[in-house]
Amino acid sequence: MASTAVGERVEPRDPMPDGYRSTLIRQISQHAHSEIIGMQPEGSWLTRAPSLRRKAILMAKVQDEAGHGIYLYSAAETLGVDRSELTAKLIAGQQKYSSIFNYPTLSFADVGVIGWLVDGAAICNQVPLCRSSYGPYARAMIRVCKEESFHQRQGFELLLTMMRGTDAQRAMVQDAVDRWWWPTLMMFGPPDDQSPNTEQSMAWGIKRHTNDELRQRFVDMTVPQAEVLGVHLPDPDLAWNEGRGCYDFGAPDWSEFFAVIGGNGPCNAERLATRKAAHDDGAWVREAALAHARRIAGEDR
Ligand SMILES: [Fe+2]
Ligand SMILES: [Fe+2]
Repeated sequence: MASTAVGERVEPRDPMPDGYRSTLIRQISQHAHSEIIGMQPEGSWLTRAPSLRRKAILMAKVQDEAGHGIYLYSAAETLGVDRSELTAKLIAGQQKYSSIFNYPTLSFADVGVIGWLVDGAAICNQVPLCRSSYGPYARAMIRVCKEESFHQRQGFELLLTMMRGTDAQRAMVQDAVDRWWWPTLMMFGPPDDQSPNTEQSMAWGIKRHTNDELRQRFVDMTVPQAEVLGVHLPDPDLAWNEGRGCYDFGAPDWSEFFAVIGGNGPCNAERLATRKAAHDDGAWVREAALAHARRIAGEDR
């Protein structure tokens, strides 16, 4: 299997090259870890949401992310790895998650901006994955994408409400946009000429578009939305290019991106420590669930 045609599906019991399997395990587990770690930046605002309505929306969103992580760990398990093994690797810092979740959430406007920009970028990345060549991954993505679209809308609606509020609220939104814009563009990964795995992943149908194509798509989708909101995107090079039929935009600071994925972002240590503490605190639940499952299995005999 040197390549797969669009529409061709590979299922768990089908023969597949070792490289295809290991690339999928890496990508799906990285994706699962991102969903789980991604609960932290917004989760920290659950106790401080400004109203019951905002708290209920945020709670639903954060719970969805837990669900996404669980679907994705299940998809990874169809490739012969174990969820507990993947979690151990995450906690040991041996597997990565999205760079974006290593930035702090400083105000409630960040909740809106994460929904609008970060979940918006996730949608651009994930919609094409609904046609990924690996069946369990593609099928998990269909439901995930429906939920991501709710996440994006709740973020946009929160920002629209704040932009119609006071000057202080508008300033909070602008400050959040200024902090999150560039890290969001980095979510698509390094430029194509510095992305060593892209070509093979595209040939295998694991990826359907390059990093730069998806980044362009995201910018083109987001600029008109920023105009509706009345926020300024912090890029002096952002301009409509009539000839190309899309927006020109500046390059993120890639040295920052490589520092963050290398473990030196503002919150990397905190995110991993929180995840490890949650895992340790949950040990008794896992033990109890296993004991219960064994007892039920025994009773069934
Ligand atoms: Fe998600
Ligand atoms: Fe989401």
